[in-house]
Amino acid sequence: MKEHEIPGHVTLLDGCGNLTKIAVETQWSTAEIYLHGAHVTHFQKMGEPPLLFMSQASRFQADQPIRGGVPLIFPWFGPREGLPGHGLTRTAEWTLEETSVYGGGKVMLRFRLPPIDSMDLEYVVRVGETLSMELSVTHTGTGDAVFETCMHTYFQIGAIETLSITGLKGTPYIDQFQPGDFVEQADAIRISGEMDRVYFNTAVPIEIIDPTLRRKIRVAKSGSQSTVVWNPWIAKSKAMPDMGDDEYPQMICVESGNVGPEKITLCSGSRAILKVELSSEVLG
Ligand code: BG6
Repeated sequence: MKEHEIPGHVTLLDGCGNLTKIAVETQWSTAEIYLHGAHVTHFQKMGEPPLLFMSQASRFQADQPIRGGVPLIFPWFGPREGLPGHGLTRTAEWTLEETSVYGGGKVMLRFRLPPIDSMDLEYVVRVGETLSMELSVTHTGTGDAVFETCMHTYFQIGAIETLSITGLKGTPYIDQFQPGDFVEQADAIRISGEMDRVYFNTAVPIEIIDPTLRRKIRVAKSGSQSTVVWNPWIAKSKAMPDMGDDEYPQMICVESGNVGPEKITLCSGSRAILKVELSSEVLG
């Protein structure tokens, strides 16, 4: 794996829990990715606070997912009787297959997993002024393959009560805490309690406006219909062994994927690509 190091840009390190971590440096930003889950745990532009939230209580163990960053979720989203929540990929050990420097100093890293149920998974992360992540699922078996995907992105924010999220107005959603089907009415969504919603048919970019950190984050995506908005708030944070009790005001998950009724059906030989690009700007 050491052959994929690039002096000044890509370094393989012993990370937390002795799990292998890849440190990436570019002229615009730094990033860190664990082979465990192909999990991006850090992205930070020069002169800005980290973009991704990481829990101080996160476990770094081969059989546990990392809490924070960008967990990769496949082939199911949410709980499943007798099986790991949110699928198999976030606790899988990925292989780093290729790295390169391109476009005047950006870094590309390509990861792969052994096939899961005749599905080949490749994950490409590009680090530069933005963070771009692309998950490709190719169905090499017979018949149809049906699955869910999600990049369960945790953003670092200044204060949950000052945050607003735009770009979801007019989209249908379901809410974990209220039965029924709803349509988002707000131009800007505010959060004042536990939030766990799945928005459907959400192709347009979403913006997270954070006046406390004076930052606007943009989530642009393709190959994703669903957006999950999640904050565990007080009681759930306390119940989670790998989340600090007081961390919830500094994080929001805005997750891009294809879940529930928007799950993907692929016929034999075809491929689905989920791509998310995260950018940010300082608010004046
Ligand atoms: C969110 C779900 O995506 O992930 C929540 O909508 C869930 O219902 C949360 O609680 C965290 O899940 P986990 O498995 O990482 O604890």
